[in-house]
Amino acid sequence: MGVIISIVNQKGGVAKTTTAINLAAAIGQKGKKVLLVDLDPQGNASTGIGVNKRELKYTTYDVIMGEIRPEEAVISTNFKNVWIIPATQALAEGEIRLTSIKNKTLQLKKALLQIKDKYDIILVDCLPSLGVLALNGITACDRMIIPMQCEPYSLEGVAELLSSVKRVKASTNKGLQIMGIVFTMVNKKLTINKDVQQQIKASFPSELIFKTEIPRNVKISEAPSHGEPITYYDPASSGAEAYKKLAAEVLKKCKEANVML
Ligand SMILES: Nc1ncnc2c1ncn2[C@@H]1O[C@H](COP(=O)(O)OP(=O)(O)OP(=O)(O)O)[C@@H](O)[C@H]1O
Ligand SMILES: [Mg+2]
Repeated sequence: MGVIISIVNQKGGVAKTTTAINLAAAIGQKGKKVLLVDLDPQGNASTGIGVNKRELKYTTYDVIMGEIRPEEAVISTNFKNVWIIPATQALAEGEIRLTSIKNKTLQLKKALLQIKDKYDIILVDCLPSLGVLALNGITACDRMIIPMQCEPYSLEGVAELLSSVKRVKASTNKGLQIMGIVFTMVNKKLTINKDVQQQIKASFPSELIFKTEIPRNVKISEAPSHGEPITYYDPASSGAEAYKKLAAEVLKKCKEANVML
């Protein structure tokens, strides 16, 4: 049985998608089977991993509306051990249509449970919101990874995020746990980065902060337009090294918590 990990932060542009794509690839390269689920109408995870959105038969929208069997929407990628359920703008319609469905936040969980045993890790790239789609991501997962950029407003909204997590945990997803906060786009030279990092570290228990930090690295920002994860686009870059380390840390945490067989 695999483990479902959602990458969540309602703040936009904090490297959720970058982390989802690059973790998926790095974990796949370590020999584990990974399914990436694009839960964002922007479809950035799909484009970034080389999916041609014009050729898609089914997407996350069909899966979340329960209109197909989830495996029908799974497509392979060019990267070792990585599959994806892609998303397009059509998913925005899901946010609207789900509101009239009973158990509207349970749709993704129901679908992923049907295919959970086929993968070691399922990574869900959530959209920047705490609406019904994102709540599907939080409800479906065993563990959450929260990417954070160490900028002045990083901590704003965290309280709101944690209270959503608490509510989901108390109702539909009792086993939910935060795996960790990962600092992204870190520039060690910036005092503000260091200050905010200290503030975040002071607000959370140390086991909730990943040891691996992702540095700001121009290669990471170039890779998506080539449809490649960083460990393929530039395996020697500091970004690739960081995501390989993060992958190892994620797998270690899964093993320690016994959430992966
Ligand atoms: N370590 C990094 N170094 C340099 N650029 C980065 C790094 N991580 C992410 N970026 C860039 O920052 C931008 C935002 O990243 P990304 O799209 O992953 O964020 P997101 O949280 O998924 O955004 P959204 O909330 O819109 O879904 C992108 O242009 C990405 O290429
Ligand atoms: Mg994104």
